[in-house]
Amino acid sequence: MTGFTLNGTPVEVDAPEAMPLLWVLRDELGLTGTKYGCGIAQCGACTVLFNGQAMRSCQFPLGAVAGAEVVTIEGLGTPAEPHPVQQAWIDEQVAQCGYCQSGQVMQAAWLLANNPAPSDADIDAAMAGNLCRCGTYPRIRQAVKRAAQTLASEES
Ligand code: FES
Ligand code: FES
Repeated sequence: MTGFTLNGTPVEVDAPEAMPLLWVLRDELGLTGTKYGCGIAQCGACTVLFNGQAMRSCQFPLGAVAGAEVVTIEGLGTPAEPHPVQQAWIDEQVAQCGYCQSGQVMQAAWLLANNPAPSDADIDAAMAGNLCRCGTYPRIRQAVKRAAQTLASEES
């Protein structure tokens, strides 16, 4: 059994310690918002927050998650109370096919938690490892800026 905190709730998982966290989330715990893209930590579709850091869950074994805090797209906000990044994604209508977008949102949430007022260059650098085959990059940049403004206004 491996125990960790998932979206604020303690969970225990009976699965091999070598199983990638992405498989655990999707197949063992039924949270399918986190996506499988490449499986080799190269595309960002599987991004979650691990102790507050953006992390590729496809290459992260369950055994390394013991005792950690993991947040997925399902735990970032809710439909009734979306996280400012999620709301900005809706307002800017970022998604095209949508497949990469939960990873993009989690990466952006990590960026803004660490850099509340990112420049265009900061955004491009932080999001560079999250690929989008639909090419939504301009809208992603706009949404990150919108979310930054929302977060700044919430704090003032
Ligand atoms: S599926 Fe994990 S980085 Fe691509
Ligand atoms: S929205 Fe289609 S891959 Fe990004």
